Amino acid sequence: MNYEFHLKARIRLSGEIEDEVLRELEDPVKERINKGVPEGRGVSKIEMRADGTGIELEILSDRYLRAHDALLRIRKILSQELGKRRVGLRGIEIRDYTITMDESLNVRLKVPFIKEMRSANGKTTLKLDVGETEIEKRIPDRILNLIEEKKRAKEYGSKSEHWELVFESKKKDFKYNGDPTEEMIKRHWIKHGSCRGQWIYGPQITKLFRTFEKIVIKELLEPLGYHEMIFPKLVSWDVWKRSGHAKAIYPEIYYVCTPKTRDPEFWEDVMDYYKVTHEIPVELIKEKIEGPIGGMTYAQCPPFWVFLQGRTLPDDVMPIKIFDRSGTSHRYESGGIHGIERVDEFHRIEIVWIGTPEQVIEEAEKLREGYRRIFEEYLDLQWREARVTPWFMAQEGLTETHENKSVGTIDFEGYLPYKQNWLEFQNVSVNGDKYPKGFSVKLQSKKDLWSGCSGIGLERWAAVFLAQKGFNLDDWPEKLVKEIRELPEVFRFL
Ligand code: SER
Ligand code: ZN
Repeated sequence: MNYEFHLKARIRLSGEIEDEVLRELEDPVKERINKGVPEGRGVSKIEMRADGTGIELEILSDRYLRAHDALLRIRKILSQELGKRRVGLRGIEIRDYTITMDESLNVRLKVPFIKEMRSANGKTTLKLDVGETEIEKRIPDRILNLIEEKKRAKEYGSKSEHWELVFESKKKDFKYNGDPTEEMIKRHWIKHGSCRGQWIYGPQITKLFRTFEKIVIKELLEPLGYHEMIFPKLVSWDVWKRSGHAKAIYPEIYYVCTPKTRDPEFWEDVMDYYKVTHEIPVELIKEKIEGPIGGMTYAQCPPFWVFLQGRTLPDDVMPIKIFDRSGTSHRYESGGIHGIERVDEFHRIEIVWIGTPEQVIEEAEKLREGYRRIFEEYLDLQWREARVTPWFMAQEGLTETHENKSVGTIDFEGYLPYKQNWLEFQNVSVNGDKYPKGFSVKLQSKKDLWSGCSGIGLERWAAVFLAQKGFNLDDWPEKLVKEIRELPEVFRFL
C-alpha cells in the first residue's frame, strides 16, 4: 500500500524569532531532513513560518520518511540551531495530521487516536488525533500496522490455521464406542459444577488423573531431570502484555476484580440487601469493585516468567527444566455444555524448559519420544501428531507459521470413536526467544536464549483414553492397571 503523509503543526518557542532567522534555518533543515532516504523520496514539501513565539510548520511526505518521523527530526535540528540563538523549544501542537492511502479499505478501527476514516474513489483518508507524546510513542506507526493487519485478516479470514500431519500411531482396537462424559455422569464419577464449563471430579476419575500425573513424573519428568514449581494462577495485565496475550484473548478471559475498599461499612448496603432479599445485588457490587486487574490462568506458563524477569543467568545453569501442576486454567469457551473435553475450567501439567536453541529443540524431541512411549505402553492409544500454528501465535490471533522453522507447536490428537473425530489432547512447543525476550531474560554470554513448553491436559487425556478403552478395567492396558490398582468407590446415592 502506498501512503501520503500530510502534517501541520506548531512548534512553541521560549522567545520570539524573526522570519529571516527561520529563512536561515531552512537550508540546514532541508539538507538534513531526508538523510538516509532514497533520492527523490521522503519529505517532498516543508514549509515553516515564524509566528511570534512559534513556528507554523507543514510537511508533506511519503512512506520512506513518514511526516511524524520527519517532525521528530526537525525538532532535533531546530533545537540545535535555535539553541545557538538562545531560543528553546517548548513543545509541539499537532494541528492536523492526514494520512492518505491509495486503496479503499473495508476495515473498522476504533481507537481514540483516529478522528475520521473515509474510503472513496480508491483512496482512504485517515485523520489522526495525536499530539507530541503519541508521536514519540510511535502511535501513528502502530495504527498503520494495525490497518495492514486487519486488511490481511480480512483477506485471509477464511484461511484456517496451519495444520500438517507429522506422525501417526498404529491403528488400535477400540473397546468402547460411547461418550465417556455421559457414562461418567451415569456412574456418578463426575457432576457438573455450579459454574459454566466446570466439573466436580469424583474419586475414580481423580485417581485416573493422578495416575496420569504419576506416570508422567515417573517416566518422563524425573528421568529428564525436571523440578516442580508453583506458578501463580491469577495473571496480571503486565504478564499478558509481555506474553502477547494482551493482543487478543479478551473474549476468553475470566476477569478478576478487587474491591474498591475492604472497609465493611462501604459494603454494608450490599450485605443488607442480601440479608433482606436473599438476592445478590450484582449491579451494586459492580459499583464497588475496581476494573479487572487481569484474569485467571489461561496459558499456565506466562506468569512463571516473572520469576526470571529482568535477570541475567550464567550459561552453565542451562538447560533449566521445570513444571507446574498447582491449579486450574480458565477459558471462557464458546458454545454450550460440552463433555469434559471442552471446559471453562481445566487441569493441566505445564512443562517448561529453557536453554540455548539447540538444547531447547533437543529437549522437545526427548519429550515427544517420552510421550509416545507412554501412549503406547501405558495407554495403548491411537493418536497422531501435527505441526500447527505455534500456540502463542494462535492465542495472539495469528494464523501463519513462525518464520523460524524450528519454532512451533506439535499437537497430539487422540481419536474419539464415538465422535469419529480427533481431539487435541496435548502439545509440545518450541517457543523460540519469545519469552526470554518478552520478560527480558538474558544469558551471561549474550548467546541466544530460547524456551519451550508442553501442556498435558488431564481432562483431555482422560477423554481420549476412556473414549477408546471404555470403563471395564479388564480392557485397560496392564501397565496402567498396575499403577492405578483399583478405583475407589466412595459414594452411594439413594
Ligand atoms: N502454554 C501452552 C498453551 O497454552 C501449553 O500449555 O497451549
Ligand atoms: Zn506454555
